[in-house]
Amino acid sequence: MAAQNYLPPSQALQVLQEYEHQDGLSVQDLMNSKIHGGLTYNDFLLLPGRIDFAASDVTVESKITRNITLNTPFVSSPMDTVTEGRMAISMALLGGIGVIHHNQSATSQAAMVRAVKRYENGFITSPVVLGPNHRVKEVLDIKAMQGFAGIPITEDGNLGSKLLGIVTSRDIQFEDPNTLLSSVMTTSLVTAQEGITLKEANAILRTSKKGKLPIIDGGGNLKSLLSRSDLLKTQSYPLASKRPDSKQLYAAAAIGTRPADRDRLADLVEAGLDIVILDSSQGNSIYQEEMIQWIKANFPQLEVIAGNVVTREQAARLIAAGADGLRVGMGSGSICITQEVMAVGRPQATAVYSVSEFANRFGVPVIADGGISNVGHVVKALALGASAVMMGGLLAGTTEAPGEYFYHEGVRVKAYRGMGSLEAMEQKDHTTPSKDKLGPKTATMAANHENAATTRYFSESSTVKVAQGVSGDVQDKGSVKAFLPYLYAGVQHSFQDIGVRSTRELKEKVISGTIRFELRTASAQVEGGVHGLNSYTKRLYA
Ligand code: IMP
Repeated sequence: MAAQNYLPPSQALQVLQEYEHQDGLSVQDLMNSKIHGGLTYNDFLLLPGRIDFAASDVTVESKITRNITLNTPFVSSPMDTVTEGRMAISMALLGGIGVIHHNQSATSQAAMVRAVKRYENGFITSPVVLGPNHRVKEVLDIKAMQGFAGIPITEDGNLGSKLLGIVTSRDIQFEDPNTLLSSVMTTSLVTAQEGITLKEANAILRTSKKGKLPIIDGGGNLKSLLSRSDLLKTQSYPLASKRPDSKQLYAAAAIGTRPADRDRLADLVEAGLDIVILDSSQGNSIYQEEMIQWIKANFPQLEVIAGNVVTREQAARLIAAGADGLRVGMGSGSICITQEVMAVGRPQATAVYSVSEFANRFGVPVIADGGISNVGHVVKALALGASAVMMGGLLAGTTEAPGEYFYHEGVRVKAYRGMGSLEAMEQKDHTTPSKDKLGPKTATMAANHENAATTRYFSESSTVKVAQGVSGDVQDKGSVKAFLPYLYAGVQHSFQDIGVRSTRELKEKVISGTIRFELRTASAQVEGGVHGLNSYTKRLYA
């Protein structure tokens, strides 16, 4: 056999230079919709790069508005089955942000914003408080119902009033149930001043050996409480989304563009709002432009995210009006039937790329909204120029989403519905997310207000309401406190495969053409999924 003339392996890198083009496609070629039409996230892949660092070295810091940068790119959607106070607090603690929905009264939405701004990790900001004229039996009741008894006593029995003492289990052990608390409470107190850090408070609790540490202001009024048992459980949140000045969590909320929304916004700003999202399925309207200008004139410190848009032309007007960020997506949401019914929309990957490419030239970040159903979609949205991703369906099954779990055909689920579903627009008790599924609190709040879902879809004055979304349920996902760290670690590992250490590097290398893409044919998509197995279980993280 004749010997083959192989090249020496040591020349591999040199020979590579001879190829005119790198493997795969540049983002510009990938996204040339004149050739193959609009693309979705599933239509393409990124080609791997070189790994010379650990996944844990990857940072995914991203701007979500002109002036606000978060440590993670995760945003929860302003939907009544996704983001209320609890989700907003958890998202911010984990480095993202939750946008509180407006399908509720302005008062309850403002209360949720206030809860986010007041939240201090480990501090109990609304403790059970009693007054000196309450009796031992009331403490016994609380103990029976809630399982604890370290109760602060204030002058008028409320938080914010002068702290007089504390009643613990020991104080009432041998007392008659009718005894007044003023005669049994402990008055020699160890307290701490408002503004104390968890670390300092921890040290005080350790030396004082008390179970509770009341936090007071300069006038001796009770502001919050720290509990020894909670402190032992308190996790720390190194990625938390906090204002650098006040160290409070960032709060974001959605509103519409009607005159009443100006009053609503005033309430939200009063409660401490940092970011407002103008919530519309089609954001390129005179109403949004006017609203942006009005907000900039009246609340110049507020960051305004406008949308939704899917084209450069839509984006241009909102950028010109002063938007600090754009929300991109029309018809890509998991509960969405907009493309089917309205015949408008755009495949999400193409929408994200087109708008980001344009908006980034003005320093306006883009949030890719809708259609994110796995870690890979997050990475693809970022690679196409988005700074963050907004998720509805992916988070609706978590413990922190509004509503109770229920069983559907043997599977533990939570209700999830489009804001353009008839159920959300009519906001009546219906068979899917009714009181027992949404939870009594959400259902009542939802019933007591002017419907915001209709305005999102410009249906408030229509006699016939045309649905743009469906109502259904999604599987239990456990706590967002486990799920978001999974998304975060997943993105870090993906970046490592691509060979980039940060979102900035990813974007730079995509634009310069160093990072390459490949289109996926239908059979490539089958190949890329699990196939050929008789059966399997799919566990995503441990
Ligand atoms: P998901 O993450 O794929 O479930 O999509 C969530 C996104 O869908 C939201 O952030 C909204 O932009 C969008 N959306 C919410 N409700 C509706 C609806 O009823 N019709 C169409 N789109 C909706």
